[in-house]
Formats: sequence, C-alpha cells, structure tokens
Amino acid sequence: MCGIVGIVGKNARDIILNGLTNLEYRGYDSAGIYLNDLKGKEYLTKAVGRIKDLKEKMTPDEQGLVGIGHTRWATHGKPTVENAHPQFDETNRFYLVHNGVIENYRELKEKYLADVNFKSETDTEVIVQLISKIVRSEKLDTFTAFKKTLGLIKGSYAILLVDNTNPAHIFIAKNKSPLMLGLGDGFNVIASDALSVLDQTKTFVDLQDGEVGDITKDSYTIETLAGKKVTPKPYTLDIDPKVASKGTYEFYMLKEIEEQPAVIRRIAQKYLDKDGQPLVEPQIIDAISQADRIYIFAAGTSYHAGLVGKALFEEYTGIPTEVGYASEAGYHFPMMSKRPFMIFLSQSGETADSRVVLQQATKMHVPTLTITNVMGSTLSREADYTMLLDAGPEIAVASTKAYTAQIALQAVLAKALGEKIGSQKAKDFNLRKDLALAAEGIQEIVDGKEKLEKIAKKYLVKSRNAFYIGRGIDYAVALEAALKLKEVSYIQTEGFAAAELKHGTISLIEKGTPVIALINDPVTADLTRGNVEEVESRGANVVTIVSKKLAKKGDDIVLPNINYYLSPLLTVIPTQLLGYYASKDKGLDVDKPRNLAKSVTVE
Ligand code: M6R
Repeated sequence: MCGIVGIVGKNARDIILNGLTNLEYRGYDSAGIYLNDLKGKEYLTKAVGRIKDLKEKMTPDEQGLVGIGHTRWATHGKPTVENAHPQFDETNRFYLVHNGVIENYRELKEKYLADVNFKSETDTEVIVQLISKIVRSEKLDTFTAFKKTLGLIKGSYAILLVDNTNPAHIFIAKNKSPLMLGLGDGFNVIASDALSVLDQTKTFVDLQDGEVGDITKDSYTIETLAGKKVTPKPYTLDIDPKVASKGTYEFYMLKEIEEQPAVIRRIAQKYLDKDGQPLVEPQIIDAISQADRIYIFAAGTSYHAGLVGKALFEEYTGIPTEVGYASEAGYHFPMMSKRPFMIFLSQSGETADSRVVLQQATKMHVPTLTITNVMGSTLSREADYTMLLDAGPEIAVASTKAYTAQIALQAVLAKALGEKIGSQKAKDFNLRKDLALAAEGIQEIVDGKEKLEKIAKKYLVKSRNAFYIGRGIDYAVALEAALKLKEVSYIQTEGFAAAELKHGTISLIEKGTPVIALINDPVTADLTRGNVEEVESRGANVVTIVSKKLAKKGDDIVLPNINYYLSPLLTVIPTQLLGYYASKDKGLDVDKPRNLAKSVTVE
C-alpha cells in the first residue's frame, strides 16, 4: 500500500525518488516529497498519479540533505494533491508522511483542533496539526510533543516527521505498519520496505510497534512511547538489488512467473536433504503433531494456496484441516478444536487481516506458524514459528511465485509431519522427485507460452467475462486462476466447482463466453468433461487444461504428469500466463492493476 522513504545526510531528492519508484509496485495513486537543504531552503511538491508526474513538477533546484517522501493509496479522502503526503501544519513548520489509518482522527479533530483550518480530508493531517498545537500550547520540544501526540492516537502508523526549525533530524514512529531504519556511512535512511533503499545500504534496524526514534545523519536513538531506551541489533539483508529489478522483462509478472522453476528447486534444496527427508525445525513438527486440527488463515492468493495445503495435510497427515479467510475470522473467530494449530500464509507477512487473527490466537495461547516470503515481517515476528518461502522479492501486485512456493512448502511440512506421526502415505511421498518434476514441468509450460498468448488473444482480450471450472483440487486452482485473470485484466472472472454451474450459473453462458476447464483429477475427469459439453452446447468457447494421462484429442493445453496433490504447481502456470497476456494485450499496466496494493496493511 502506501510507501515511505526518508533520508538524512545525503542527496535526498534522488534517493527518495528512486526509493519511491522501487515501491511503486505496492500500489498508490499520488505521491509527494519534502526536501530541506539545511541552509534555510525547503521544497514541497506533490502530484496525483505516478512518480513521473511528481518528477515533472519538480524544478532542478529542488535539492536537500534531508527529505521525506511518500506514495499514497487513498483511504481517507480522494487522491488529490491536497490529500497527498507530506501533510503540514498551519504554521508551515512541520512536515509529515504517514502509512496506516488513524481510527480516532475525527474525535481528535473535534476535541483538540476545532479552531484549525484543515487543508486536506486526511486522517494524517490531524497528526501533524496536533503536534504543532502541542508544541505551541505546551511549549514542548518537537520530539516530546510527537510522543505526546502518539499517545493520543489510536490506529496503525509508520510516520516520518521533519521540523523545519531543526531540520537535521527526522523523527520516526511505528505501530502496526512496517518501518525500518537503514544505516549508512554519514547518512541514515528510513523506509517502509527495505527493498526501496537496498542500493544505499544493506544494514537495517527494525522498529517494533510502539517505538519512536530521533534520526540524524550519524546517530539514531530509539525508545518506547513510555521513554524506555531500546537498542535493537542491526542486521544485514543479503539481497542483491538486481534481484528486485525487471532486467529485460517488460513486466515483473512475467519475470516472476518464469522464476518459478528456480523457486521450486530452491525450496527442494533448502527443505529436503539428499535422501529427500524434510529439513524442518523439529520444534515446528513437534508442535503441529500435538494438534487435533490445523487451521490455515490467509487472504487472496495465499488463501487459495491454503486450500491446496488442506488437501496436502489431510492426505499425508490425516489431520483435519480448515482454511479460512483471515478477514472473516478476525471478528468472527471460528470455534476451535481442543488442540488447534494455526498456520498463517502470507507472501508479505504484513497483511493486516491476518495479523488480527494471529493476535487473537496468541491471546488464546494457540500455537502459530507463519509461512512468509519476508524475513522479519510482522506476521513472522509475532507467530511462534516461521518458515521462509525464499521465493525472492515478489514485485508484481499479482502474486504468482509466492503461490507455488506456498504450496511446495506446505507439501514439505505435510511430509515431515506425516512421517513424524507415522503416516505410510507420507513415507511413500517422494517429494524430492515430485518437486523436480514440478520444476521441469513449469519450465516446459513456460517454454510454450506463445500458445497461451494466442488463446488469450483469441478468447479473452475482447471478452467481458470468463469462467474457470474444475473439481477437487482443480476447483481450488480455478479460484486462484479466476483471481489472477480478473485482477490484472479486469475481465470479470469466476472460479467454479464444475458441477455447480448447472445449479444456477450456467444461465450466464452464452455464445462466446470463455470457459476454461481444469482437468487433473482422474476420479472426476469424465464428469468434468460432461460439464464442458454442457457449456459448449450453450455456445461457450471452451479451453481445456489437462494432465497428460487424462488428455484427449483436441485438448488445448496438456500438462506433464505429476502427483495429483502437487498438480496445482503445474495447472496454475497456464492460468497465470493467460492473465498476464490478457492484461498485456489489453494495454494495461500488468504489474500495477488499478485500485490494488501489493501488501494490504489496512483491515
Ligand atoms: O501478502 P499476502 O500473501 O498476505 O497477501 C494476501 C493478498 O492480498 C494477496 O495474495 C493478493 O490476493 C494477491 N496480490 C493477488 O494476486
């Protein structure tokens, strides 16, 4: 969602604009930057649209040694220049950027700021006006007034604040929204995502919820809101900045789709020994093996990966597994079994909906595991255990490689757990071989991608709506396939349990409606083909995606054979490519679909 970059001690303009560009993938609709040259000149520029629109509004003399920048994804108030950040106070002394949502901003406005003339509709302006008011009315220094203001605020925030009467400092605060400090030689940089500033430093310090900091070019102090000093240990983030670049690809989405064979191989290498035995922390396996039921919570694509996880856990461990939308469970907590274990699937590790459930689980002493792509992310820090996907940075808003990595890692976990509790099926599960087949199979599908581009052009690009159908595990993939197509191409797409169409939805099928059938389940393959005939006879343009052993003459995409429970690793690939090409051929911004954000840090 929103992105933050700030720096003190170095040419702030380029570093901030570059950092914000690196964060573009997270989704935003306006951007802004405040610069101070420490010699009395300051500049504020804001623009609706993209970073390039912001750059176009900036004059060459707008430079600074201190600066804060922001990309905003509108929550309170439309995307306008006034609502863009940095927000400033009525005396034009304080400049502030904020990620998150201030829940009690209306009350604060009425109680403390009734006489202030607000320039924006944002919750953020309340923070900066309040700091200003407290400094003036209580004669406090800025840092103390900042902390006092934070004490009045309810909600989530990552904040950077500059006071132009003392501009060599950036004051920072974090609660429930990510924020980290990057340490440099003669400068310090602050960002909501380390990826944005990896070209400046690889040494970071994470702030925890309820912490505030005072950052200068060669010092930093961090303390709790109650004033207790903290000394977090700096760590090195060993990511090659090039990994997060598009290279020769037009869009990240295709790059990330094509990275999947490597991701699957990396997971096999990291989590299986040379004999194919799972390498999972024994404490994790011990903890899950005590459970009488596994609960998986997630959102969007990660939820869909959880549906495949359910099939894997139930098949190889025999432990009943439930999958829920975190956004639903947060406030309608499910009835638990006697010995539950909870797994949180999250690419970003920052999804606010999942965090609500995790916090509730922690209060109830339910043991928890986060499976995430981001080391040190909030969900990984707050769960009892973490397993890392190691899929590399996923930049395109549409999640692809995280989905397959989540399935592969759940398969590792299912095998490890099944073996621990004596499941013969788990012992016989040759995961090493199956993951190698999956990696080869994905490569084969990717190598034949032109065929999928033709199908997308022929059936999807001009279509208003589309359907994916499947049964069993194919139904789980149909849901993900539909999400992928609709989110990037804006073609309204539904994923359907194949047989359910005839119970109502088949009335939507008309001449030319694209229906893509996924067929990997030997038990129901013929039945699904029957459903294909039903829609075909009503004029649908049918595309079949079928595993080799079930393929028939005339099938469109034939997938290499693989263990049924891992078949989603292959089935999903053509559907990701169909989404990609439909979006690209419609001339859309594939990596940044409208209204969407990469990591959804508001509930
Ligand atoms: O970071 P997370 O995996 O927790 O994100 C959950 C969803 O927001 C995410 O999977 C979303 O549905 C995808 N970007 C869609 O492609």
